[in-house]
Amino acid sequence: MKFQGSQTYVATQDLMLAVNAAITLKRPLLVKGEPGTGKTMLAEEVAAALNMPLLQWHIKSTTKAQQGLYEYDAVSRLRDSQLADVDGGERVKNIHNYIVQGVLWQAFTADTPVALLIDEIDKADIEFPNDLLREIDRMEFYCYETRELIKAKHRPLVFITSNNEKELPDAFLRRCFFHFIKFPDAVTMQQIVDVHFPGLKKDLLTAAMKTFFDIRNLPGLKKKPSTSELLDWLKLLVAEDIPLEALQSKDDKVAVPPLVGALLKNEQDVTLFEKLVFMQRHNR
Ligand SMILES: Nc1ncnc2c1ncn2[C@@H]1O[C@H](COP(=O)(O)OP(=O)(O)O)[C@@H](O)[C@H]1O
Ligand SMILES: [Mg+2]
Repeated sequence: MKFQGSQTYVATQDLMLAVNAAITLKRPLLVKGEPGTGKTMLAEEVAAALNMPLLQWHIKSTTKAQQGLYEYDAVSRLRDSQLADVDGGERVKNIHNYIVQGVLWQAFTADTPVALLIDEIDKADIEFPNDLLREIDRMEFYCYETRELIKAKHRPLVFITSNNEKELPDAFLRRCFFHFIKFPDAVTMQQIVDVHFPGLKKDLLTAAMKTFFDIRNLPGLKKKPSTSELLDWLKLLVAEDIPLEALQSKDDKVAVPPLVGALLKNEQDVTLFEKLVFMQRHNR
């Protein structure tokens, strides 16, 4: 099993190495990086390239580790027991009918090897990663309600992503292979754009990329625009048929690039950018 990038996803050499290292070590691949640098998409692409179904678990601040294993729906069972004559009470007798399987259960019991994405693990509370240590290590867990051991038929290929909002516990890190997706350099970014907009006019692209990296390099930005924002912006520039001149701010009328709302997502950053454009104009 080797991952080599794909038609729709630009993978740098070190990213491919990391994916294959995680596969070889049979450890989860922990992918960190700014939002919009292709972490979620990586799991989708690797799963597709290796022909594996992908089970996704998107983590929220309220997500508990147990939900990934299973949940026992006691309320439904109680209700059914009160309405027992509906199907002669058969359903209520079997507790399996009230076990809601989580993604780990599904991944462990799948007949073929699957990929499993635990997306944005840093959203959950600090205990969450620790609570999954044993399951990820041993690839098994115990269901107390049904008294069965759920053991992985095939070891799933696990991807864990983090936007770096919280530190992860050391014991958890020890069990993962780690990769940080660096923000793409200009060449890589060009390849990514090519994948999404194969027919884009060269000069428009060059001007747009320059504006984009200029904005990213502004000191003091609260939220730097990333790959997905650039792609959004390019899509708009094409859709609105924005002329090249609007991006090359030679004359004073052009203040801020058109549709800058695709790149800058809060008013402080827009103000900062406007100030800079203003200052540049008066220094000329
Ligand atoms: N290496 C890449 N190749 C192709 N498209 C990419 C790449 N990185 C990011 N993108 C684009 O950026 C979007 C956001 O990526 P996503 O995986 O959601 O980022 P993250 O999960 O890191 O926040 C994707 O939908 C894709 O269009
Ligand atoms: Mg994501």
